[in-house]
Amino acid sequence: MNHEKINHYITEPTLLGEMANPDGSGAIGDPSCGDRIEIFIKVKDDSITDIRYLVKGCWGSLASTGQLCDLVKGKSIDDALYFDEDDVLNALGGLPEEKRHCTRLALAALHYAVRNYLVHHSGGNGEEYLEQ
Ligand code: FES
Repeated sequence: MNHEKINHYITEPTLLGEMANPDGSGAIGDPSCGDRIEIFIKVKDDSITDIRYLVKGCWGSLASTGQLCDLVKGKSIDDALYFDEDDVLNALGGLPEEKRHCTRLALAALHYAVRNYLVHHSGGNGEEYLEQ
């Protein structure tokens, strides 16, 4: 685990905050722990040009969501959706086993945000982008 990196996302989270007029947003909570993550995206020419997030939850959620948003900012929607749990954990330097569901929650919020964008901007239903 990379404590320096995790502390960065806890103490100086550059992308943390709400976004005015996002092109898509997605929120998800985990009833088992009470954490909730919301992600907002701006999209231009099928790329995520800007991204912000809100976290009500633990340090694992803050670190996972901050790292995920850093990874996908500037990427195409297709590329962004290829990032998986291992990519986020590797970039973070790992998380304890009991915090890995925080990473999955962040990924789910991103997928909901993309689906929300597609529903409102492409005329599709976004199903093809949702995780199984
Ligand atoms: Fe449940 Fe962090 S402890 S998402």
